[in-house]
Amino acid sequence: MKTKILKVLKSTSEYVSGQELCESLGVSRTAVWKVIRQLEEDGYRIEAVRNRGYRLLEGEDVFTGEEIRSILHTKQAGQNLVFLDIVDSTNNEARRQAEQGAPEGTLVVAVEQNAGKGRRGRSWISPKGTGIWMSLILRPEIPPEYASMLTLVAALAVESAICRVTGLAGKIKWPNDVILDDKKVCGILTEMSTEMERIHYVVIGIGINVGISEFPKELENKATSLLLCTGRTVSRAQLTAAVAEAWEEYYERFLPALNLGPLMEEYNNNLVNRDREVKVLAPGDTYTGICRGINEKGELLVETSGGMRVVVSGEVSVRGIYGYV
Ligand code: BTN
Repeated sequence: MKTKILKVLKSTSEYVSGQELCESLGVSRTAVWKVIRQLEEDGYRIEAVRNRGYRLLEGEDVFTGEEIRSILHTKQAGQNLVFLDIVDSTNNEARRQAEQGAPEGTLVVAVEQNAGKGRRGRSWISPKGTGIWMSLILRPEIPPEYASMLTLVAALAVESAICRVTGLAGKIKWPNDVILDDKKVCGILTEMSTEMERIHYVVIGIGINVGISEFPKELENKATSLLLCTGRTVSRAQLTAAVAEAWEEYYERFLPALNLGPLMEEYNNNLVNRDREVKVLAPGDTYTGICRGINEKGELLVETSGGMRVVVSGEVSVRGIYGYV
């Protein structure tokens, strides 16, 4: 009922009478009033005027499950939404949910993580109220070795969603960091569970720095946030919904091909290092070359003096010669 009332209030800038809400939802005036109070507690500003009704005022960055549901336009991604105030890691929670049978498209979102995980066993700072910490459960019927491509699809989706919501054109650092102003604004951690030759489930964990105004000294040259790049508050709910929508669009293009062919041109056009010199740090093998973009499998092509080398993601890190990108 909360989501329905919110949707009605959002659909107009006029007052909506209490009577109208009661009749359309088939509930009492007291029930409507209680929901209005809950919405106010969630952070919405609602004007109540006798004989006219309720009107939603332009609000703060309200980040709740109802807010996301009220603006989400997807067929599957996020339709089963698990919204938590605090969790160890949304990836961990998504894994627990997946083990319990949560369906494809289940989205776990948290306001705060107290044990956020990054790639290569690093931790991911995820303070309350300053970012989007979300994990999507997938159950694709594809061979496990294809799963690493999903991470690149997710990077494209996040980059596109950020552009739709903020107007900022980001870049991608292969395989899956989203970059603004030459610094990382989003990281993606993909985990999966396989049985025999088939995928049981995949969890795509996405962390977007939205309202972080200051980073620790060791990260300040590498990390940024949407607040620092735009100078304004970006709605986390709007961006979460936009990421789910963009994910669905790109995933639908990827699945029939089972390779990145349909998305390759767009990915390569957004690649931050394209045609620039990079250093590839593989275990026991470090070399430099010119980054020439990805192939259909999502591998990175690096042109070296000894010929073209194909970089497979995993324990490999690709750096710019002069800095983080
Ligand atoms: C990276 O190291 O770049 C990957 C960072 C991934 C962070 C996100 S936040 C939501 C999800 N839950 C986690 O614990 N990690 C991912």
